[in-house]
Amino acid sequence: MPNIRLDKFISERTEYSRSQIKQLAAGGNIKVGGATAKKADIKIDPEKDSVEVCGQVLRIEKHRYILLNKPAGYVCSTDEKDGPTVLGLVPPEMRTKGLFPAGRLDKDSLGALLITDDGELAHKMLSPRSHVPKIYIVKLDRPFENKYIDIFKKNIILSDGETCLPAKLKQAENSDKLAFIEICEGKYHQVKRMFVAVGNHVEVLMRVSLGGLVLPEKLAIGECMELLHKDVENLFKPRDFDAFCSEFSPVFSANLIK
Ligand code: URA
Repeated sequence: MPNIRLDKFISERTEYSRSQIKQLAAGGNIKVGGATAKKADIKIDPEKDSVEVCGQVLRIEKHRYILLNKPAGYVCSTDEKDGPTVLGLVPPEMRTKGLFPAGRLDKDSLGALLITDDGELAHKMLSPRSHVPKIYIVKLDRPFENKYIDIFKKNIILSDGETCLPAKLKQAENSDKLAFIEICEGKYHQVKRMFVAVGNHVEVLMRVSLGGLVLPEKLAIGECMELLHKDVENLFKPRDFDAFCSEFSPVFSANLIK
């Protein structure tokens, strides 16, 4: 990483403005490599010099990537007027300016949601051209039928006439009402409406994978974990749907049966 101005480095990683950073430095609240930095316009090498602001060591990564295991009852919005938002679930130590949910899960949906301040990566992930597959496990109202597999493999047409891209489907273990579905797009209420089109109804929907990124078993519902940029790059790695279902069916089925 090339040398960078101290105030730029700090403002990209905290909620402080440049003028606040200047004051913090003058007040002796910023340390570079363990020594107090009285001026904020000095150049630093972030890979060699650790930077501390008010006793908190800043991360080197420019952007923040947070994986939330979304609970029901929270909206994927940055505006509190829409109701309790997923951003309210981000613990204070992970909060930085400019965070937003990259993509949408319905208010009653659960599971993997990326929250970031990296607009470029979010755009790439959500662009239909990137074809980042998303896998959901659903709990159905009526038993799963094998005929759905072929219907979903073709371009299923929703009640409003919208056509979906082919989707992959597989019954999950331990219940005839649980299934995994993989889609590469994000139409409004898409998974729910696809099951309505075959005469069923989704009772619970949980996103368990975003591209090559799997919702970790240890991440409890409502909890957040920080990811590194290199983990997030996994989003764009291919994943085999059948292998995923075999490997993760026991874990995620147990989650939905509970
Ligand atoms: N499809 C839905 O119907 N709801 C979601 O939250 C995500 C995908």
